Amino acid sequence: MSTAIHINGARHEIDAQDQRLLLDILRNELGLKGSHFGCGAGNCGACMVLVDEVPVYACNTPLWSVAGKQVLTVEGLARHPAGARVQRAFIKHGAAQCGYCTSGMVVAAAGLLARCPAPDGRQIREHMDRNLCRCGSHLRVIRAISDAAADSGDGGGS
Ligand code: FES
Ligand code: FES
Repeated sequence: MSTAIHINGARHEIDAQDQRLLLDILRNELGLKGSHFGCGAGNCGACMVLVDEVPVYACNTPLWSVAGKQVLTVEGLARHPAGARVQRAFIKHGAAQCGYCTSGMVVAAAGLLARCPAPDGRQIREHMDRNLCRCGSHLRVIRAISDAAADSGDGGGS
């Protein structure tokens, strides 16, 4: 059985059983390895993607639930209005150590800024609470997101 999904603006017909999970499709069928497998149980955020601008864990999202929706992964972040700003700010603040959590972090941050362009510290912390970092880079992540929110004038650039 075939399901139509939209990933980073491109339509894909996936021949998959309903119970296959989005992260499996992204990584193993479409070769989009930027969304990472961490806990595999909806607890860490390493696999986070945006579905119609809402951050979701791809590791526990069944394929059928994203049929006809717009999925954005880290590979498509440049297409997102806040994506380039978030990426620049993470680099500027060195908001990663090993980087394993970073793709989920930047996707989640872009989703926040799309919904709430000028979040305060509490809103950033609450939103990013679903993204864990074993290296302890949270303070830099929060600074980077604040900076990206303040840098909202150029619409993202290239
Ligand atoms: Fe999906 Fe941890 S791998 S939440
Ligand atoms: Fe290593 Fe976050 S930078 S897990």
